[in-house]
Order: sequence, then structure tokens, then C-alpha cells
Amino acid sequence: MDRTKIKAVITGGASGLGQAVAEQWMADGAQVVLIDLNSTQADTWMSAHSNDRLTFIQADVTDEPAMEDAMQQAHAAMDGINVLVNCAGILGPGRVLGKQGPMPLENFSKTVMVNLIGSFNAAKAAAAWMQHNNQPDDNGVIINTASIAAFEGQIGQAAYSASKGGVVGMTLPMARELARFQIRVMTIAPGVFHTPMVDGMTPEIQDSLSAAIPYPSRLGQATEFAQLAGHIVDNQYLNGSVIRLDGAARLTPK
Ligand SMILES: NC(=O)c1ccc[n+]([C@@H]2O[C@H](COP(=O)([O-])OP(=O)(O)OC[C@H]3O[C@@H](n4cnc5c(N)ncnc54)[C@H](O)[C@@H]3O)[C@@H](O)[C@H]2O)c1
Repeated sequence: MDRTKIKAVITGGASGLGQAVAEQWMADGAQVVLIDLNSTQADTWMSAHSNDRLTFIQADVTDEPAMEDAMQQAHAAMDGINVLVNCAGILGPGRVLGKQGPMPLENFSKTVMVNLIGSFNAAKAAAAWMQHNNQPDDNGVIINTASIAAFEGQIGQAAYSASKGGVVGMTLPMARELARFQIRVMTIAPGVFHTPMVDGMTPEIQDSLSAAIPYPSRLGQATEFAQLAGHIVDNQYLNGSVIRLDGAARLTPK
């Protein structure tokens, strides 16, 4: 798909990986709608990137009517939607049996709600518009963001890994089902990237994370995530699979 023809909705687009995709595609001439809970963060970024091809909608990916409404607004703003990048997510760390006792069920549910159910909620609302695009080739591309923790979650990541494992699991059945509408579905499973989510960790933890990455032995750059998202849109034969983007990193138990 020619980048100037991209009409993308990016959830979690006010920060980190989603913001890097928005930045790249804005530079390429695409239209972009960011959906995020955090309007303060978005306002700062929007004022630096003021452009009539960029719109921000404050919404919660876990809210069904809000997401339907947001997609309708996005469709109106761009005169269509043909790409969705699901980047909204939270870490939700915590042990099953922590120092304060067993993990409150609410913590587990919230992580699954945002990372998995929120991704599904945004995907179905976007696909409902994409199915009518009536293009000769792709009517839409949905890119989810899982994590390598979907495959080798660490201690303290039971909720996060379960949520990301769910994202991995829904990728193929969604791609199979939406094939008849010429909508592709892919998932990126990032390793450890420099974003506000990770930059808040101490330098020692970041150094030890970097040292465990075989090559290149450093954290990923958000621009590298954006490059892959762009390639997924460009390459029509990518569908129904999960791509690890991790410098060969494999998470250890701790
Ligand atoms: N940074 C990493 O190393 C890394 C690694 C693997 C996977 N990921 C995944 O990539 C995605 C993006 O992560 P990031 O590092 O850019 O994080 P980030 O915290 O920088 O950005 C996440 C964004 O999601 C938004 N958000 C959170 N809950 C929301 C909700 N309910 N509705 C709408 N927006 C919401 C936040 O406001 C924030 O702007 C997440 O799904 C994360 O799990 C990140």
C-alpha cells in the first residue's frame, strides 16, 4: 500500500512504539488517528507535530461503545480506515503469590482487559469499517502488538504473558476469518524496547536486559518497530502470523 494512502488508527499512539509508527507514517504522508487514554501526553506531541493529517481521540480501548464511536470519528476524519495498529498496553506486573498475599483477581483481569480484550475490541470496530473499503487488493491491515513474554514470560508476568499469549492466539483465526474481506491480521512480538514503559527502569536493569540480548546487544529502538509495521503494510503476503522482533533475546525466568 502506498504510504500516502494509509489511513491508520493507532491505539496507544500517544507514547512509545505507537508514537514511533505515527511519526514515521506522518513523515511518509499518511493520515493518522491516535487513540489513547492519555490526553496530556498526546497534546504535547500533537502540538509538536501539528498537521491536518493527524487527529487525536481520547478513548479507552476496553470500552466497547467508546471504541465504536472512536472508529466512527476516525473514519470521518480520514474519510476511511485501512490500517489499525494496536499498541495500547500496560505491564500489570505482579506475582501470583506476592508479599502481600495472592494477586488480587482485579489486577490480572485489568491486564487481560487492556492488552487482549482492548486489542480485540479495537480490531472488531476497525474491521467493521475496513470490510466496506472495496479495494482491488487489501481492504485493511490489522497489526497487533504482543511481546516475547507471550512465549517465555518471567516470574511476575503471569498476567502480562497471559494477555499477550491471547493476542498471539487470536491472530490466525482472525486472519482466516477476515480473509474474505481482504483484511490481513499480523502480530509483532517485540523484545525489550526503549520506550517510556522500559525507560522508567533503573540503568542497572536496562544494562542487564541489554547484556542478555545476543545481537545487537542493546534495547530495540521504537523506529525499528515502526519499520516492521511499515513492512507489514507494504508486504501483502504477510498474513496470520507473529513476528518476533528481539535481537534473538529469550527471556529467562527472572
Ligand atoms: N516497550 C517494550 O519493550 C515492549 C516490549 C514488548 C511489548 N510491548 C508492547 O507494546 C505496546 C506499546 O508499549 P510501549 O512500550 O510503547 O508503552 P507506552 O506505555 O509507552 O505506551 C502505551 C500507551 O498505551 C496507552 N494506554 C494504556 N491503556 C490504555 C487504554 N485502556 N486505552 C487506550 N490507551 C491506553 C497509554 O496511555 C500509553 O500512551 C504495549 O502493548 C506493550 O505491552 C512493549
